[in-house]
Amino acid sequence: MSQHYALITGASGGIGKELAYQFAKDGHPVILVARSADKLTAIGENLKSTYNIEVITVVKDLSREEEIQSLYEELKNKKMHVDYLVNNAGFGLYGKFIETALDEELNMIDLNIRALTHLTKLFLPDMVKRNRGKILNIASVAAFMPGPLMTVYYATKAYVLSFTEALENELKGTNVTVSALCPGPTKTGFSDRAQLSNSKLFQSGAMDVETVTKVGYKKFMKGQTVIVPGVQFRLATFIPRFVPRKWLTSVVRRTQEIK
Ligand SMILES: NC(=O)c1ccc[n+]([C@@H]2O[C@H](COP(=O)([O-])OP(=O)(O)OC[C@H]3O[C@@H](n4cnc5c(N)ncnc54)[C@H](OP(=O)(O)O)[C@@H]3O)[C@@H](O)[C@H]2O)c1
Repeated sequence: MSQHYALITGASGGIGKELAYQFAKDGHPVILVARSADKLTAIGENLKSTYNIEVITVVKDLSREEEIQSLYEELKNKKMHVDYLVNNAGFGLYGKFIETALDEELNMIDLNIRALTHLTKLFLPDMVKRNRGKILNIASVAAFMPGPLMTVYYATKAYVLSFTEALENELKGTNVTVSALCPGPTKTGFSDRAQLSNSKLFQSGAMDVETVTKVGYKKFMKGQTVIVPGVQFRLATFIPRFVPRKWLTSVVRRTQEIK
């Protein structure tokens, strides 16, 4: 019998790693993708010995189009079906747009937007053909508002949310669902890489990655389209509907400032 896998991008740490544990706990075989071979191997060994599941680790830089294509073709050649696709790999960058590095921001767009879109384009048709499958895109609370001092990052996450909601509508009538997990600040390697560990936002109440992924996984499995863990962050995504956009933007600016 062929196995049906959960493919998780950015599984070498943070939210992706914890989601891999959620899938493994439920007995799903997993394909873990990231750039850090050593971290993937260590996580894979632990998952195999703890949950007795099949684990495949694949080292790829998903900001590179050819590596996305080769990932898909390698799995297809081995006749491995991906039933769960988790587009999690992503990063942010703190600073005024006029001062931040263009190459990092273009790389962010390649990973947060292009890779997510490309992987969905490749794996979704197979899911629709088999009439089974689920895609989880990791957006953010940032998707619901403009984000001064992280201008490009917030905009990439707005894309992820909009893309997910529209695709969910197109998939009606199939057995395939697509969800957007929208965490608020969460304790992972993200804030260090984005250089915002000292921002008011992260200092005042970042959530545990275990809670975020547990809630996210459960609601994803139920097919919920937009998932925002934490009451305070659900409120933070609800209020923007009722307040002037300029006022919202200036409030976000204040929360983004470094203490
Ligand atoms: N933490 C938060 O506060 C927060 C809040 C909302 C949304 N998010 C979103 O959650 C997702 C996961 O972030 P995280 O918080 O778990 O951050 P993290 O701890 O920094 O993990 C990021 C993961 O992405 C992988 N990655 C980075 N660049 C990659 C590339 N070019 N190719 C393949 N994999 C790559 C990293 O692995 P390698 O370095 O080994 O490649 C790592 O596994 C991101 O999309 C982020 O935007 C995070």
